[in-house]
Amino acid sequence: MQLTEKQQEILNGAQGETLAKVMKTLVMYGDCFGAEKMVPVTSKYNHLVTSFGLKALGPVYDLMNQLIEAGAVSTQKFSADPRPLDKNVPTNFIQDFVFKNFMYSKQDFYEGQLQKLGLMEKDAFTCTCYMDEVGNKPQKGEILSWAESSAVVYANSVLGARCNRNSGIVDLFGSVLGMVPYFGLLTDEGRKASWIVKIETTKKPEAQLLGSAIGMKVMEDVPYIVGLDKWLGTELDDATCTYLKDFGAATASNGAVGLYHIANLTPEAVEQGESLIQDGAQVYVITDEELERVKNNYPVIWKNPDAQPKLCFMGCPHMSLQQLKDWTDRVEKGLKEAGNTKVVIPTVFTAAPGVLKEFEKTEYAARLKKTGVIVSYICPLMFMNNPVCGKMPVITSSNKLRTYTTARYYTDDEILVQITKGGK
Ligand code: F3S
Repeated sequence: MQLTEKQQEILNGAQGETLAKVMKTLVMYGDCFGAEKMVPVTSKYNHLVTSFGLKALGPVYDLMNQLIEAGAVSTQKFSADPRPLDKNVPTNFIQDFVFKNFMYSKQDFYEGQLQKLGLMEKDAFTCTCYMDEVGNKPQKGEILSWAESSAVVYANSVLGARCNRNSGIVDLFGSVLGMVPYFGLLTDEGRKASWIVKIETTKKPEAQLLGSAIGMKVMEDVPYIVGLDKWLGTELDDATCTYLKDFGAATASNGAVGLYHIANLTPEAVEQGESLIQDGAQVYVITDEELERVKNNYPVIWKNPDAQPKLCFMGCPHMSLQQLKDWTDRVEKGLKEAGNTKVVIPTVFTAAPGVLKEFEKTEYAARLKKTGVIVSYICPLMFMNNPVCGKMPVITSSNKLRTYTTARYYTDDEILVQITKGGK
């Protein structure tokens, strides 16, 4: 990699040993991917993926301390992924005990470190930092140093920002130095599509299922999707952005997609059209049958596949304000049809603290509460990824949660029936 004189000086230790190590790490990272140079991070804010004070992350706390002591803190304020715990989420005594005393016993300590390093505000914990209520929404063309896969794919695809799928800590290092290695999705060439995905379904495809199918097929490649505008329209309005949030998270977790283009809809596809498609791109056709095939192939890893669900999680990635309102209507209607007054499975809807604050100001909040649905700001994955919760039969319409945990996937409509009426 070619470094400027100033960058070389930092690497040689002119600004201290700590910053030299940070630079060395990013140079080695860039070298692995053939980066030619470092480029400035240009977004106003950063976003960190590591938000949880796991007891096992001792080396991370040491590293953070070294940065703080050396004054090598972030050049940008940042938001961070959701917190792992919330007292509103139902837990039993053992889960509570294990969470507080073992797993996440360093949560308060770690949040203190994040504040010293540059956390935007006390409650800036969410994976949907790009929502208006949170305020970390990058502009088109800006260079980011993020790692949260659902946020990276959204920022690249829907907002037209530029970010690689970095790892935790590397995201912070980019912000400490104010620069990142230039390769992959930062380059024009790296943003070209090597897959054409043709949507030929007879109805609007379920976002989480379509994302899963495409992610598993193209893996880390960039797909150019045609025919989806028939179902989504050509405007990036609130409903479409919500769809793309869920769709993108599924592509990024069921595969490793960091960017997708949708013909006539996403910014680069609108501007550049099919010139974004590489020569010799492969083709994947999505039909109703293909989506059904993908869904039927998900393994059920509950100990007892016929168990009654004990918990339902919705909101991975975090729900938008409109999603919370729409689901309030849907749950009320479902309960009425089923002749019930409260949900029959403990159900948690998760959203950003800022979104929940706005939701509380609406009449929907009291209505949702009346149905028995709990709202929370946690990350369901962090809640579930441990032996005490992993054994629980949990249902979700999040394909990311299905991929990383023992949770079982159902479509939104199926979830609605399960939580309002019961039965599997
Ligand atoms: Fe967000 Fe946690 Fe899901 S970070 S995307 S709620 S796994």
